[in-house]
Amino acid sequence: MSVKSEVLNLLEQSGERPISGQEMAEKLLVSRSAIWKAVNSLREDGYIINATTNKGYILGKENDLISEQGIKQYLDISNKKIQIHTYKTITSTNTMAKKMAIEGALDRTILIAEEQTQGRGRYGKSFFSPSGSGIYMSIIIKPNLNLEDPQLITIYTAVSVCRAIEKLTVLSPKIKWVNDIFLNKKKICGILTEATSDFESRTIESIIIGIGINISTREEDFPQELLSIAGSLFPKDVTRNKLIAGILNELFIGINNMNREELINEYKARSFVLGMDISYDKNGEIIYGKAVDINQNGNLVVKTRDGKTEILNSGEISIKWDR
Ligand code: BTN
Repeated sequence: MSVKSEVLNLLEQSGERPISGQEMAEKLLVSRSAIWKAVNSLREDGYIINATTNKGYILGKENDLISEQGIKQYLDISNKKIQIHTYKTITSTNTMAKKMAIEGALDRTILIAEEQTQGRGRYGKSFFSPSGSGIYMSIIIKPNLNLEDPQLITIYTAVSVCRAIEKLTVLSPKIKWVNDIFLNKKKICGILTEATSDFESRTIESIIIGIGINISTREEDFPQELLSIAGSLFPKDVTRNKLIAGILNELFIGINNMNREELINEYKARSFVLGMDISYDKNGEIIYGKAVDINQNGNLVVKTRDGKTEILNSGEISIKWDR
């Protein structure tokens, strides 16, 4: 770890207690001038570091930059050793994660970026990922034999994101089947789960869970085509580091021992589509109906206008809000 990373680590750990250059120099076995250089370099990166005479340095409360150190201080003990890679800018964390997974990245390797230039959504869509105002994160999972059903992972991820937001804020996000998360009728989070497989053994080698959350993107900054659809979380007094750690803690607590029935019940409790009039595209034909249930496989049960029952296992539905 570089002196700069270690200094950031000490500042994060020290919280509201000022820590002097001398103390840091002694802890890290480097000179005070090396500490001074590291502090300046962190400031150049955008960190607000306040200096109090005779007492030392303190990380400004207003800092909201994503860093490995900042995330790790909020991770449960059992997750402290996971590998976290952070990027100022990247094409897509999912694309990079796939590459790293193929090259042998460890289970639970995390990639997080401040900005994505080619963020990807489901069905080949792009995911708007402006700098500094979102969480763009991919998690590499190497499934083991205990993993019940890879499909449930997406559902479990949506529930984990909601749980973390509920625990850390006063907000109550809702899930739009399959895995979009909404707040005040606007999409604030999308999830893209992908897999790399071994052709020979026909097994899934790794699963890449991509999570994109709009944290503080203002309405006027969204592109025209997203204006009526996308919103932001705007959490109060919660940094992105804390939220990322909260999501990871929720995710890892049960990913290898999911209880299907409990999970589906929890998912249904947060779903806002049940009972709503919806439509979807079936081979080019638009079908209208009512969403009546989510079954134990996470499929959406729809009663169509002409009285049929249809089970959707993937795809996108449109909601008729004014029913
Ligand atoms: C969707 O809404 O269709 C899914 C959006 C998923 C976006 C996330 S952001 C992090 C990860 N990297 C990507 O390129 N996409 C996912």
